[in-house]
Amino acid sequence: MRGVPILLLMVLCTLLLQSHICSGIKWLALARTPATLFLNQSQHCKLLGGLVSSQVQLCRSNLELMQTIIQAAKEVKKTCQKSFSDMRWNCSSIELVPSFTPDLERGTRESAFVYALSAAAISHTIARACTSGDLRGCSCGPIPGEIPQPGYRWGGCADNLHYGLVMGSKFSDAAMKMKKSGSQANKLMHLHNSEVGRQALNDALVMKCKCHGVSGSCSIRTCWRGLQDLKDIAMDLKTKYLSATKVVHRPMGTRKQLVPKDIDIRPVQENELVYLQSSPDFCSRNEKLGSLGTQDRQCNKTSNGSDSCDLMCCGRGYNPYSEKLVERCHCKYHWCCYVTCKKCERTVERYVCK
Ligand SMILES: *[C@@H]1O[C@H](CO)[C@@H](O)[C@H](O)[C@H]1NC(C)=O
Ligand SMILES: *[C@@H]1O[C@H](CO)[C@@H](O)[C@H](O)[C@H]1NC(C)=O
Ligand SMILES: *[C@@H]1O[C@H](CO)[C@@H](O)[C@H](O)[C@H]1NC(C)=O
Ligand SMILES: *[C@@H]1O[C@H](CO)[C@@H](O)[C@H](O)[C@H]1NC(C)=O
Repeated sequence: MRGVPILLLMVLCTLLLQSHICSGIKWLALARTPATLFLNQSQHCKLLGGLVSSQVQLCRSNLELMQTIIQAAKEVKKTCQKSFSDMRWNCSSIELVPSFTPDLERGTRESAFVYALSAAAISHTIARACTSGDLRGCSCGPIPGEIPQPGYRWGGCADNLHYGLVMGSKFSDAAMKMKKSGSQANKLMHLHNSEVGRQALNDALVMKCKCHGVSGSCSIRTCWRGLQDLKDIAMDLKTKYLSATKVVHRPMGTRKQLVPKDIDIRPVQENELVYLQSSPDFCSRNEKLGSLGTQDRQCNKTSNGSDSCDLMCCGRGYNPYSEKLVERCHCKYHWCCYVTCKKCERTVERYVCK
């Protein structure tokens, strides 16, 4: 009889431990913050969902950053789903935060992407908020020392990537740096992938220019260093997702480290995403593995990419259906100044996986 409570305790502990594995991105739950929550007092930080205690502390001491971080959480959700809309795994489970299904809870390739995107997004959003003057703690980024090219000059407001990276990593890595945040291997994986996300953001700081001169002659260009849009950074990370490296946690020198599973003669590279657990093919439903399957997913009959009916439906075939689209058409301009249009109906063929 005495064994039972101990067993129960062990089960509880395992459950608790597992619930911590994904705590690193629980802050994405901020995307659900009601717009009516007005964050102007430090005790409001307790009301925010998904934060670990060190993040609540950061919230208290950086209140003005929080609207920006809430915005970042929304961007992560939207951008992840958009970037994977043509894939079998389509990032729909991110809707469930702060709960997670196994596709994101285990150390998978998919979680590698989401961690990298989250780290990139938080720093991106903060850097952009500096530029638009939303934050008192920062302003435009520094003007580079060197002159760009003849006919070009620096001007305008650079995105403050440095501030974004410092504050973003402080906040998003906080949960992974806690003592009780799941296994060491998972922590190392998540921290590495977050760093890959920030590296991708660094690579996305490019020179942007505006033309000046008589009637658009562009004899002078003013330039500043601006970040590419988050969706472009997500595309870069998706490429890294597709070529991610499977790693194992094993002793290397004095400490245990992540090393590539198959070719463990080389260390893990700074710009590659890594994962510990293989994912299923996401063709059929398997709740244990966090796979929703692709039945009833829309596929593209003319594409030969991952959204093609062949690949999306895993060879099961597909059903056609027609959809009526209502569009504005035969538009006329009236002097002055309005436009009238007619409504036209058009039928398009669509296909869903069997
Ligand atoms: C916080 O915002 C509310 C609503 O706008 C306002 O009534 C309150 O005075 C503000 N508190 C502080 C400390 O600024
Ligand atoms: C993503 O996939 C799931 C499962 O197949 C599906 O229910 C959902 O509608 C899909 N979402 C989008 C935006 O396609
Ligand atoms: C299907 O794929 C083709 C080729 O990639 C593309 O031109 C077309 O817009 C896609 N159609 C839909 C409905 O996404
Ligand atoms: C199919 O894919 C190949 C390689 O990805 C590409 O070169 C080709 O143009 C594609 N064909 C069509 C019809 O989209």
